Amino acid sequence: MVLPWWLSKHDANQLIQFYHKIKNLQHSMQTKMKLCNSLVLFAALCSTSHAFTIPTKPNLSARSAVDISLASATTSASNYLSSIPLGPPDAILGIAADFRECTSPDKVNVCVGAYRDENGKPWVLPSVKEAESLMMKDPSQNKEYAPITGDLAFVDLALKFAYGSEIFENSSERIAGVQALSGTGACRVGGAFLSKFLGEGTKIYVPDPTWGNHIGIFNSVGLDVQKYRYFSRSTNGLDFEGMKEDLINAPAGSVVLLHACAHNPTGCDPCHEQWKELSTLIKEKDLHVFFDSAYQGFASGDAEADAFALRYFVNEGHNVLLAQSFAKNFGLYGERCGTLSFLCGNSDEKAAVMSQLKLIIRAMYSSPPIHGASIVKTVLSDDDLSKQYYEECAFMADRIGSMRKLLVQKLAEKGSTHDWSHITDQIGMFAFTGMSKEMCDELTEKYFIFLTKDGRISLAGLNEGNVEYVAGAVHAVTDGKSLTQ
Ligand code: LMR
Repeated sequence: MVLPWWLSKHDANQLIQFYHKIKNLQHSMQTKMKLCNSLVLFAALCSTSHAFTIPTKPNLSARSAVDISLASATTSASNYLSSIPLGPPDAILGIAADFRECTSPDKVNVCVGAYRDENGKPWVLPSVKEAESLMMKDPSQNKEYAPITGDLAFVDLALKFAYGSEIFENSSERIAGVQALSGTGACRVGGAFLSKFLGEGTKIYVPDPTWGNHIGIFNSVGLDVQKYRYFSRSTNGLDFEGMKEDLINAPAGSVVLLHACAHNPTGCDPCHEQWKELSTLIKEKDLHVFFDSAYQGFASGDAEADAFALRYFVNEGHNVLLAQSFAKNFGLYGERCGTLSFLCGNSDEKAAVMSQLKLIIRAMYSSPPIHGASIVKTVLSDDDLSKQYYEECAFMADRIGSMRKLLVQKLAEKGSTHDWSHITDQIGMFAFTGMSKEMCDELTEKYFIFLTKDGRISLAGLNEGNVEYVAGAVHAVTDGKSLTQ
């Protein structure tokens, strides 16, 4: 009998004890079933196996073995839904939902990585608004289905934005690119492709820590998710030696997922020299490179500079995969707009890859939404709007950077004696503070500050009006306690 991974050791032991108690009762099976106070217990009673195991590796997206055995034990057309267990809330979006429900006037949302203006409000970029007004006036706009691979004029402009004009002009005949449902959709389709053609169970190495959804996405397409060391909790900085050691030990033919810039959640990127070392190492080890680029423009404020790692790897001859998102840098969160691309060896390979991507996409969601792609296309195909857009992106990155500094300054003013310099050393949207889960819980329960439990703060949620309050609360929960674990 396989128990769900989400049970704590204590709960699992309690459950096993209770199971034996009920099993040994001299009651009918029907009465025993009625005594079950949990679905898991009920499933255990239905099971023929009396040995219990708890899988160690959480698989957040796939249904756990007990869920499946439970469903099959009780399935009938009329009642199977009653036996579906409650899934755990999402580690990021679940907290965003709690924030929405909180009624405290003091509440602060530093949970989801979404830009907020200086008044804490979502910001629609003026260049995006301008593009939308141009689209409204364009008589050729309609609401037809996009092709399966999306609007290819948008895809070309998007890929040029990521790879740069030079690589794009020289290699477009071998870049297989499709429109994707933002970065998540790109990772999902890319993962499905890798699982199909490299084989189910192929290892994909993701940084530890990484964006939580990477693990769910790649698990659910049948890849074997492994972690490489990335961040040292004892220095609150990049663990470059650990990273290299783990990648050296990865079997040839595995996939390595790299955050193209502004690593989520740590805000720590390798420097240029370290990227170069990684490129050599990864080539020697014959690993497939999958870049996830969700923050181009948010690391330095300059979308060109932020593409360094991707462009360097391509110039060094890596046939990369790229998941590209326009959620953050264009503020198009809800439009689900992005691309997935494969750098192929030649145009024949490109044609084959495109044909297979079409099969995957058609069966998954048929074709992508058109509005967001149309916005990005309108902006990037107009010189003036593009220029305006680049300035607006830099403005967002700049405001976040100033909140980084202000938070550290306010912490010192509140009397914090911790060294918070890692916050100003980090880049992008997040501060990976070093706070423990208990400290995060206290911030939420006592101060209504909503953040993820790994100590990540989305700096975009800070502004002149709340940074002092947040600094005071952070000082209160960290004072006298260690920030390194
Ligand atoms: C985040 O990390 O907060 C964002 O990428 C939002 C998400 O989808 O998790």
